[in-house]
Amino acid sequence: EKGGYDYFMLKEIAEQPKAVADTLLGRIGADGRLSLDEVRIPDGVLREAQKVVIVACGTAFHAGLIAKYAIEHWTRMPCEVELASEFRYRDPILDHRTLVVAISQSGETMDTLMALRHAREQGAKVLAICNTNGSTIPRESDAVLYTHAGPEVAVASTKAFLTQLVACYLVALYLGQVRGTKWGDEIQAVVKELAEIGTQVEEVLGTMEPVRELARGLAGKNTVLFLGRHVGHPVALEGALKLKELAYMHAEGFAAGELKHGPIALIEEDLPVVVIVPSPRGRSVLHDKIVSNIQEIRARGARTIVIAEEGDETVVPYADHLVRIPVTPTLLQPLVATVPLQVFACELATARGNEVDQPRNLAKSVTVE
Ligand code: BG6
Repeated sequence: EKGGYDYFMLKEIAEQPKAVADTLLGRIGADGRLSLDEVRIPDGVLREAQKVVIVACGTAFHAGLIAKYAIEHWTRMPCEVELASEFRYRDPILDHRTLVVAISQSGETMDTLMALRHAREQGAKVLAICNTNGSTIPRESDAVLYTHAGPEVAVASTKAFLTQLVACYLVALYLGQVRGTKWGDEIQAVVKELAEIGTQVEEVLGTMEPVRELARGLAGKNTVLFLGRHVGHPVALEGALKLKELAYMHAEGFAAGELKHGPIALIEEDLPVVVIVPSPRGRSVLHDKIVSNIQEIRARGARTIVIAEEGDETVVPYADHLVRIPVTPTLLQPLVATVPLQVFACELATARGNEVDQPRNLAKSVTVE
């Protein structure tokens, strides 16, 4: 049932191009327009909505953090993202013009379920993004957009995460479409690239051997830091979470700009720091800032592991290890940038002799609050 792989996690990482393609299937028309019939919330309600609030836990929360960038940029609607376990305890401001998006692979996470129940009690409409047909979260929501990742067995989420991202991008684009956001060249290009993104995920998977080798070489380390900016920040958080879950190592993700306000004190000789570099095209200011961050940490002895777009030569002098990812629009980069981090964590866990599919103390779905 592991299809020739040693672990379900490896199988599920490898299945990502298909999972992504399946989640897109039938949802983008030839004219680039989206048809999401499952979003049964009437267009009128989506047009009148004043803000989006995303609730989720763990890896799904990281998908939500990335979705915020897409929703705000493409639709100009304000978007908040909150850990489901914190949501209802702070008396959130919700009404019938709030669209709540609940993201959950299992559809059974109690924290997320309680958050969406609270949102509905306040009159908000709830759209679930879920991977499990007929589970509790979609049943209790106003609408559901299913991710088609197929069953995910390994506790650490991989293919479900990538498909959650795809679903989030679809929701963001759909909101833009319904609300009449100016469908400029940028969005047109993004839709086209999104439709083809499975191929790029496949490309990344084909180049992972050096990442595995690097991971094996770091098995004796105690700490790994992850840095990113913009959508690279949630990617850094996800990279760190994977390492905690699987390798039982101290790992933290930071917004690279925050480095100077504290975390830089952690940098010491040979400390591995993974940096996710945004595309040098488009938001080039972001790119240049992160290149300076890499220089700063390297000057203090860090061992830099740099994840950067094909053809980005500016990072070469500062990268102790360079991992290449394909060229993508800035907002879609998490779909390719996360993959090396999954492989990295999986290999490190294996090298440390850990149980990859069933990490200690964790459960695939947590049905208590
Ligand atoms: C956790 C799982 O406890 O629940 C994580 O171990 C997962 O992998 C999180 O990201 C949220 O789960 P779900 O099913 O709501 O996406």
